[in-house]
Amino acid sequence: MRPPDSRELRDALGAFVTGVTVVTTVGNSGQPRGFTANSFTSVSLDPPLVLVCISKAALSLSVFQEATGFAVNILAENQRAISHLFATKDPRKFEAVAWSPGPAGNPVFEGAAAWVECTRHQVADGGDHVILIGRVVACGHAPVKPLVYCRGAYVTFGLEERVVAAEGRKTCIGVILERQGCVMMLKNPATGEFVLPTAASIGQPEGKEGLYGALQSLGVRADLGFLFSVFEDGKTGDVSHSTTRTCFDAIEYSSRPIAITHANPQEFVGTDIELNRRNKSTELIKRLAERKGVIGLSMYPKIMKGGSSCTLDTFLDMITWTVDRIGVDHVGFGSDFYTGWPESVIKWWRAGRWSRESAVPIKGFSPWPSWFKSPADFPRIIEGMERRGLSSQEIAKIAGGNWLRLFRESFAPARSNA
Ligand SMILES: Cc1cc2nc3c(=O)[nH]c(=O)nc-3n(C[C@H](O)[C@H](O)[C@H](O)COP(=O)(O)O)c2cc1C
Repeated sequence: MRPPDSRELRDALGAFVTGVTVVTTVGNSGQPRGFTANSFTSVSLDPPLVLVCISKAALSLSVFQEATGFAVNILAENQRAISHLFATKDPRKFEAVAWSPGPAGNPVFEGAAAWVECTRHQVADGGDHVILIGRVVACGHAPVKPLVYCRGAYVTFGLEERVVAAEGRKTCIGVILERQGCVMMLKNPATGEFVLPTAASIGQPEGKEGLYGALQSLGVRADLGFLFSVFEDGKTGDVSHSTTRTCFDAIEYSSRPIAITHANPQEFVGTDIELNRRNKSTELIKRLAERKGVIGLSMYPKIMKGGSSCTLDTFLDMITWTVDRIGVDHVGFGSDFYTGWPESVIKWWRAGRWSRESAVPIKGFSPWPSWFKSPADFPRIIEGMERRGLSSQEIAKIAGGNWLRLFRESFAPARSNA
């Protein structure tokens, strides 16, 4: 029998739903150390024992192996960012969270769903991991929902409630149905496009309404499991990184204007660059404008024609080209500017989940173009627009006015928008 390769094993084990923890301790030098872990397990009530497995590749391995104890912080559903951060090797992890020493001195996080502090009970070998077994000496919990992890993604219990609360309003619930590694798509006979099955509500398993009813009419019996995410109508959305289909759907379904905060028309992106779907078609940006949305043209080198060597003239060409097609009320800037962050943090922004090999290959970071080294260079673009003959009123709209208009329209309470 062929043993499963590590991908197959991960896929199979990923179906086991877990919480997410950050395991912490304090090194000999008094430095707090910690890493995100979902291998946490309760072992015994009497004596009270828990375990967590730490990879032999973890930077903090030796600190945890030698430590006299550790804390396990069970994260709350609003602490995804902490989970991301502690899954990186950033040496400044603890600067970004509110924590204090627990009764036994290990870092305990503010806002965690629960925490336990342990003294070291046993350290055992576990293949490419080391098993840390701790004897619980203190614990606490808060009435908040825990963060949940399954199949390499976070799952939010609270979403279920939000969907139920939203039913009856204008909702569109899509379902990803998987069978033998294939995802079910429906063909729209008018456009020939494939879309996920959707309905305005979930319905009941044997009922004729909602998603269940729609699936039954297709002869499909399915168990609807957990929800990955919910897009509430009545809120604005950013579809910079979304596929064409999702962009069109968001524009159509949302009653408020949609934003493409940092992307460029496909005529103005290069060919050998990392696009991440930030090349938008003319048809798409026209529809965005018809629904009062705004596109933020981006100076991010990887998505400009010519990359870092894109000239200011080419960027100005892109502005006037876009204004000519969708009107001056729908164009803004979206620099996507960042600087000074270590690769580990950027990897986490991009990959967004734990994976030894990043899910998105990092190809290095291109330098910003000579005419936009920081937001202090915006005046150079403004001067360029003046040279191109745009009026001061038009420039004011592009340089921020359109975003302010969109924010006013989109972030107003739903009732005043109705
Ligand atoms: C949801 C999630 C669960 C993880 N579970 C574990 C785990 O159980 N054990 C482990 O060693 N690493 C786990 N990791 C990866 C570590 O958090 C990551 O390798 C981290 O960089 C280790 O920190 P260090 O190298 O600074 O010690 C997990 C990451 C995520 C996002």
